[in-house]
Amino acid sequence: MGQTITEKILDDHLVEGELTPGEEIGIEIDQVLTQDTTGTMVWLQFEALDLDEVQTELAAQYCDHQTYQFDFKNTDDHRFLRSAAGTFGAYFSRPGNGICHQVHKENFAAPGKTLLGSDSHTPTPGGLGQLAIGAGGLDIAVAMGGGPYYVEMPEVVNVQLEGELPEWATAKDVALELLRRLTVKGGVGKVLEYTGSGAEALTIPERTTITNLGTELGATSSIFATDEKTKEWLSLQGREDEHVDLEPDEDAEYADTIEVDLSELEPLIAKPSMPDNVVPVREVAGESVDQVIIGSCTNGAYEDILPAAKMLEGREVGRKTEMIVAPGSKQASEMLAREGWTAELMAAGVNFSEATCGACIGIGHVPASDSVSLRTFNRNFEGRSGIEDDSVFLCSPEVATAAAIAGEIVDPRDLADELGDLEDPGLEMGGNYGPGMGESDPDIISPDEAVDDDLIKGPNIGDVPLKDELSSDIKGPALLKMEDNITTDHIIPATADILKFRSNIEKLSEFTLSRVDETFAQRALDADGGFLVAGENYGQGSSREHAALCPMFLGIEGVLAQSFARIHKANLFNFGLVPLTIDEETYERIEQGDDVQIVDDVGEGVREGREEFTIRVNDDWEATAQLDASERERDILAAGGKLSWTKAQHDSG
Ligand code: F3S
Repeated sequence: MGQTITEKILDDHLVEGELTPGEEIGIEIDQVLTQDTTGTMVWLQFEALDLDEVQTELAAQYCDHQTYQFDFKNTDDHRFLRSAAGTFGAYFSRPGNGICHQVHKENFAAPGKTLLGSDSHTPTPGGLGQLAIGAGGLDIAVAMGGGPYYVEMPEVVNVQLEGELPEWATAKDVALELLRRLTVKGGVGKVLEYTGSGAEALTIPERTTITNLGTELGATSSIFATDEKTKEWLSLQGREDEHVDLEPDEDAEYADTIEVDLSELEPLIAKPSMPDNVVPVREVAGESVDQVIIGSCTNGAYEDILPAAKMLEGREVGRKTEMIVAPGSKQASEMLAREGWTAELMAAGVNFSEATCGACIGIGHVPASDSVSLRTFNRNFEGRSGIEDDSVFLCSPEVATAAAIAGEIVDPRDLADELGDLEDPGLEMGGNYGPGMGESDPDIISPDEAVDDDLIKGPNIGDVPLKDELSSDIKGPALLKMEDNITTDHIIPATADILKFRSNIEKLSEFTLSRVDETFAQRALDADGGFLVAGENYGQGSSREHAALCPMFLGIEGVLAQSFARIHKANLFNFGLVPLTIDEETYERIEQGDDVQIVDDVGEGVREGREEFTIRVNDDWEATAQLDASERERDILAAGGKLSWTKAQHDSG
């Protein structure tokens, strides 16, 4: 039987298991990436594993999430990351050089290779034919040590794009249309493989916008075939020799097929505060707009900012609207500057940010209270912008720029009719793409140029906490009952005032779930053990392992949820917290404060492969909870987490 692109790459990298959907497989990892919010833990864990050197073909450390310096802690973290990259043999991308996914795409992403990254939007280079997966930091540390990455073999779904995008509809609208149809859970357990004449017509930056947003669908990864466009783009980056031809076999079988006729798309927008809350722009036209930001790992490439610059040529940003361009990489900034577009944008009233995640996680450019912000980003979770009552819409650069000109949300087709001389800027690839990694790049320090050969830890950088082996008796109060779609932003917010403690777990854990209940951390410490209870899709959002590590530090033993987001569930195993699935009836019945006990000998049950556990609530009623875990995940859980488990494996030879 023929193979899909995903199956071909996985087959090439398979070290354990079979390519049967739902079965756990182990794959060899070629490249890893990590960023500053997750990276300090990755390197502290790598250090704890007592390994000397990175074992993957390539590892890259980026500093992108928090590049504005508030105090010494952040600068200390960046220095530590540089020292770790130098000591263990990774590339180091300096703060301000850009967002990991953009910079990785430009410099290292390679068709046919596997990439594991401690950031949920790691699948971005799927637009270049790389099979890229987001994971928790500990998985990255283990992969860097040469260990396989284990994941449930996803179903491969074919997204068939046919036709051509009409004027003013963009790649962002393709992704928003999928979110509208499938919701933020629609891609869970799947790789979305894009084919069809419509996919071939898209440029590489358009493809990577779509693969980036696959994360919002919950997909394990998203991928396109490679073609002449891939080759051309790689050659613009000075990396033509890394091109390989990749396409599905003609008789490849997909688990499902989704058809999208591009010619039927129109400008779309995601309303507050979920990326799948998508409607046609015309439906919300007229809403006054206070702020517009173009950038992020979704739409921060040169080709994403160019349409805004063209639309604003000879025009001005409306007087009551603030417009900011935050390029995804310094390469994008440099190209805009070299080609004169920075000056055009500035003359139109646009402000520039350095190339950073920044505003995407509420660090800088926080919207005013009770105001509307239009962003080209991928997430608009409530409060993520840095203010609780935010009102963030997600859209294409074209829709965002139209709003900046009009001062209100407007369909760019209507604005074009009104102005008479506003044309769809279209999208092209080209321009001066910079030197590529073959030549010297002052913003990326290669392992050969490393300036450190020992770790430099500031006073805010602590140790990695370890958990004891899983005990036989787990009981405690249901400390917090939460609803559906609790995100990792709810569990550990990534705003600047909190994020600065990312390398200091004791301090950071004080903020655990504080956005849901301010008293939670103290109550958890006082209770010395207990459970979290949640509805569907618990842990949606980022790969942030702090969202499992901090509850573990506070003594949480397990999470009872109706369902879990993939990466977060893996992180719960990695830090020794038992993720149990409960049905809706149990969820409805259980109350915050109830006493919960897992009746059976949990440690033994986990080791023996038991899938059902009985929970007793208030010594009054009982229910069944499921543990859906592979043999390896059970071993990890029993050992008290992956760090202890991996150490034990290394020690035993
Ligand atoms: Fe950064 Fe936001 Fe992307 S935090 S990695 S720009 S989703």
